[in-house]
Amino acid sequence: MQPGPCEIEIQYTALSYIAPEKIQFKYRLEGFNNGWVDAGQRRFAHYAGLPPGDYRFQVIACNNDGVWNTTGAVYSFRLPPRYYQSAWFRVLMAALVAGLAGAGYQLKVHRVQARDRELQRRVAERTAELAEANAALVGEVEQRKLAQKKSEELQEQLMSASRKAGQAEVASNVLHNVGNVLNSANISTSLLADRLRRLDVNNLAEAAGIIEQTLAPGRAPGDRARRLPKYLRQLGGYFDQERNGMVAELKGLAQNIDHIKEIIAFQQNYTQVAGVLEKVAVSDLLDSVLRMYAPSYQKHGIDVVREYQPAPQALLDRHKLLQILINIVDNARHACDASRHSRKSVAARIGPRGPDRIVISIADNGRGIAAEDLTRIFSHGFTTRENGHGFGLHGSALAARQMGGSLTAASDGPGRGATFILELPLTPPSTDTPA
Ligand SMILES: Nc1ncnc2c1ncn2[C@@H]1O[C@H](COP(=O)(O)OP(=O)(O)O)[C@@H](O)[C@H]1O
Ligand SMILES: [Mg+2]
Repeated sequence: MQPGPCEIEIQYTALSYIAPEKIQFKYRLEGFNNGWVDAGQRRFAHYAGLPPGDYRFQVIACNNDGVWNTTGAVYSFRLPPRYYQSAWFRVLMAALVAGLAGAGYQLKVHRVQARDRELQRRVAERTAELAEANAALVGEVEQRKLAQKKSEELQEQLMSASRKAGQAEVASNVLHNVGNVLNSANISTSLLADRLRRLDVNNLAEAAGIIEQTLAPGRAPGDRARRLPKYLRQLGGYFDQERNGMVAELKGLAQNIDHIKEIIAFQQNYTQVAGVLEKVAVSDLLDSVLRMYAPSYQKHGIDVVREYQPAPQALLDRHKLLQILINIVDNARHACDASRHSRKSVAARIGPRGPDRIVISIADNGRGIAAEDLTRIFSHGFTTRENGHGFGLHGSALAARQMGGSLTAASDGPGRGATFILELPLTPPSTDTPA
């Protein structure tokens, strides 16, 4: 028999000489089906697809009398399995499958472990990267903090420099005005000295000689003696005139000296009140600035017009307000000086704005400001003047901001004058830190 599934036919027979056609058969295949198969008179058994194994084919027959021979005939055979149906093969296969499964499992475990290791490596890598980034970030934050601190320090230094420049600007303006007044005082004194030098007192001695000659005994008054009274009257008139002139000059000199005293007092006041908040009548302060500038304005032929509306007193740092006003009034003079306007004038205005603010404006008809310079003029060091510094407006705008207000400029353009507008709160904001 060949290995593998098998189709077999087993033929059998029984001998009977009497009635062979009446012989009946039954058969069974032990190992496949233990039940008897009634085959009738058929003399073969057919099996298809028998699995490998050991079989025992048994066939019995009955004769024409219906008597069964229960012994029958037996044929044992074996259907050998194909190799893959063999037990060893199955065992081998099972072992192989188990081995493969084991190997697969091992592989999987290995892979999982490898993935795990890779994951751990990546986590470690990421962690290291993050730590590095974190360290960099911390470093950057530190650097930023340092830069911020430096920037704040620089800002503070700049503010302090601006403040000092502003104070220096004011001091220089004040000194300039003192210089102006001193100049006219100087002119007055030399004029007086001149006049005194030219005062002709010799004529008096000559007149006395003529009188002496006339009064001598036996002398008739001559022509000269007769003209003497008229001459003396003329001399009196001359002395009178000179005296009046010199008195007027002295009065001017005294006024100048008073003005110098006033300016010095103003400057002392300015330096003393720095950083203190006090109730101030803004119009008084503006007046004192305009008074200080009066000789200078007069000298340059500038008219001053005051238009003050009633406004409440403001609580503010007088020092800062003076700094701003001096700068604007000084700039207005320079602007008028630089224009060819025949009637130079400056209008100083004060008025309330809303319930809690005040506006001071100084308008001149001077050289004007080009539109593109309207904001640039407030930057540190911007100047168009030959002897200018460009500190005044920068410091003034800064001071206005510190007071919770603003300083702005308006102009219709070159040659058409300019207006500086200072707006201030009547009470400073709580954040105002007096400097
Ligand atoms: N009233 C004004 N009219 C025209 N220009 C002005 C006026 N005030 C200021 N400016 C311009 O702003 C510039 C800066 O002024 P400022 O900061 O006071 O510095 P400085 O007076 O030293 O030039 C001036 O040089 C001038 O060009
Ligand atoms: Mg100036």
